[in-house]
Amino acid sequence: MTNEYHTPVLLKEAIELLNVKKGERYIDATLGGGGHSEAIIKAGGEVLGIDRDPEALEFSGKRLSQACPLGAFRWTLIEGNFGQIGDLAGKAGFDQVKGILFDLGVSSHQLETGERGFSFNKEADLDMRMSPGLKVTARDLINGLNEGELIELFTKLGGEHRSRSIAAAICRARTTSPIEKCDQLATIILKSVPARGKYDRTHPATRVFQALRIAVNDELNNLKEALPSALGLLKPGGRLVAISFHSLEDRIVKDFIKEKENSGEINNLTGSPITPSREEVEANPRARSAKMRGAEKK
Ligand SMILES: C[S@@+](CC[C@H](N)C(=O)[O-])C[C@H]1O[C@@H](n2cnc3c(N)ncnc32)[C@H](O)[C@@H]1O
Repeated sequence: MTNEYHTPVLLKEAIELLNVKKGERYIDATLGGGGHSEAIIKAGGEVLGIDRDPEALEFSGKRLSQACPLGAFRWTLIEGNFGQIGDLAGKAGFDQVKGILFDLGVSSHQLETGERGFSFNKEADLDMRMSPGLKVTARDLINGLNEGELIELFTKLGGEHRSRSIAAAICRARTTSPIEKCDQLATIILKSVPARGKYDRTHPATRVFQALRIAVNDELNNLKEALPSALGLLKPGGRLVAISFHSLEDRIVKDFIKEKENSGEINNLTGSPITPSREEVEANPRARSAKMRGAEKK
C-alpha cells in the first residue's frame, strides 16, 4: 500500500505480529498517514489513533472516513503525545486493549513538507517540531546552545563522530548572522567535513539533523515514558509492537522488553528484530533501517 502522505513500513508483518482479532480494540500510537490503522480496522479491529501532529489527524481522518466509514467500522482519532498514552487512552475509553503499535519517527509527509524544516535540502526555516504546541525549534538549539552543548547533542543523539569540527563551524558561522534555514545549516556542515566525508553514502548533515529532530521533539524520553504505560493498557495476551528507525530508539524498546521479560510480565515475541524484505526496501528506501520488535503481556 502506498500513498502520497506516507508509505507504511512492515505493514503486513506488523498486522501479523499484533495478531489483530475481530472486535478487539487497538491503539495506533503513531497514526501518521493512517496506513497501519486502516489495515487494523479492515482486519476487524477497533482503533484509537494518536498523533501529536494535527496534519496527520486531518489527513487520516479523511482517509479513514473514505476507506472505513464509521457505522460499518469503528475508529476514533485523538491529538496528543504518546508520552501521555495512559491519559489519552483513558479519555477515549480505550483502557484494556488487545494491541498497541508504535511506528516511530517522522512520516514522509513531515520530511517532505519544506516548511516543517526536517529536510536538509530545503530552503526552509529550521523548525522540526512535530507538534505546533512545542516551544523550542531546531533554530533555537542551533543558535542558542554553546559549542560544548552542540558537540554533546550531535554525539549522543546523532552518533556523529565529527561533532567537534561541525560544532566549531556552526559557532563560527553564527557570529556573522543566525543560522535560520535547513539548507544553510547543511552547507555549513558539508564545508566543515573533509573531502572523503563529502562523498559518504549519506549526506554529512544526516546525523546532525537526526540529533536536532530527536531533541526538539524529546523523542527518546517520550518513548521511555510511553512503553510502561502501554504495557499497563494491555489485556493479558495483548501485544505491544514497535517499529524503530535508529539504534537509540531500538535500544530503548529492546531493553524494555528484556526487563519485562525478566520480571515475568511479558513474553518476547521477536528474539531478533523483524526487518523489511529486500523488495520492500527497493520499493520504499525509507524502510531500510526499520526494526520491529514485539511482546505479549502474560
Ligand atoms: C512513521 S510515522 C507513522 C506512519 C503510520 N504508521 C502510517 O502508516 O502512515 C510517525 C508518526 O508518529 C507521530 N509521532 C512521533 N512521535 C510522537 C509522539 N511522541 N506522540 C504522538 N505522535 C508522535 C509523528 O507525528 C508521525 O506522524
